[in-house]
Amino acid sequence: MIPPRLKFTKKGLQVLDQRSLPDRIEYITARSAAETAAAIKDMALRGAPLIGCAAAFGFAMEMRRLKPASSLELKKTSVRTANLLKAARPTAVALFYAADRMLAKTLAFAEANPGGFSPATAAKLTALLDREARLVTAEDEAACLAMGRHGARLLPKGCVIMTHCNAGALATMGIGTAGGVITAAHKLGKIKRAYSCETRPYLQGARLTIWELMREGVPSELITDNMAAHIIKTCGVNAIVVGADRIAANGDTANKVGTYGLAVIARHHKIPFYVAAPTPTIDLAAYSGDSIVIEERSIKEVTCIKGVSIAPRGVKARHPAFDVTPAGLITALITERGVITPVTRSAIKKHLA
Ligand code: MRU
Repeated sequence: MIPPRLKFTKKGLQVLDQRSLPDRIEYITARSAAETAAAIKDMALRGAPLIGCAAAFGFAMEMRRLKPASSLELKKTSVRTANLLKAARPTAVALFYAADRMLAKTLAFAEANPGGFSPATAAKLTALLDREARLVTAEDEAACLAMGRHGARLLPKGCVIMTHCNAGALATMGIGTAGGVITAAHKLGKIKRAYSCETRPYLQGARLTIWELMREGVPSELITDNMAAHIIKTCGVNAIVVGADRIAANGDTANKVGTYGLAVIARHHKIPFYVAAPTPTIDLAAYSGDSIVIEERSIKEVTCIKGVSIAPRGVKARHPAFDVTPAGLITALITERGVITPVTRSAIKKHLA
């Protein structure tokens, strides 16, 4: 079992601190939207769907904490709170989806309840936002289960599969996106072996994914990122499945840096490359991958491992946290609604209609 990632209590949002994994299972408490945004920014919680769920809870918690006394005050504080949460990280669209959804609910409430708020109106708002945040989470859990079902069907019996970064339970409130496909296929007895790429520089694969796979009893092995091509060529890998942070309207997909390289290798070896992501990951406002903002993180995460420097002092480095895989390299998108293949602008539009 994977421990709960988020616990929404009256005292605040308890967050499983993923920076301590796999060594320790520890929780930190966020008591405001600012503390929730900080937990997202600092990677205490990460993974696109989980960031979205945390933002929804963070938003609800902030309105409860600030107790806006009128519809005007509510409008101002809710816009400010949504912006604060959305500024935490730029690439995962789930964060924007959840914050905007909570904001829309709140603004509709403000419109329907003009003027000052009685204690009963304030209580109604709290209940409404708590319910909406729990709904965001419930939808994520259901989407994961559905993606697991659809994805597992695509895999052959005796499948040797590879994944990158962490798109398992730790990245969601459910069984995971790509990780959910692997565990669902494992439950059907289809997985011979799963390879987890370590995912430099943040090591989500080494710290999180392989830990999850081991806990779920999936036969699995950890590899460093630069072993991927060799392992695919020599170990009978017959599918790759990854998650996504944002999918453009034409299917170009932003996911953890290194994903694009794996897709190129998959094409060379003629093995399917699958992306599993819930439909809110599809950003129709992004015409193609070129419109997706790629987060640049601190170069310290590249030049140091666990606080120990591994490069010369004063070195210049880069740390794009994501890359964009062109739609043409993706065999299929797996969403909670089913499978999109081939991955084209029109197929995506039809899928969402
Ligand atoms: O920087 P992270 O750890 O938040 O990046 C996570 C990923 O890139 C995942 O693959 C992606 O969010 C899909 S999660 C289901």
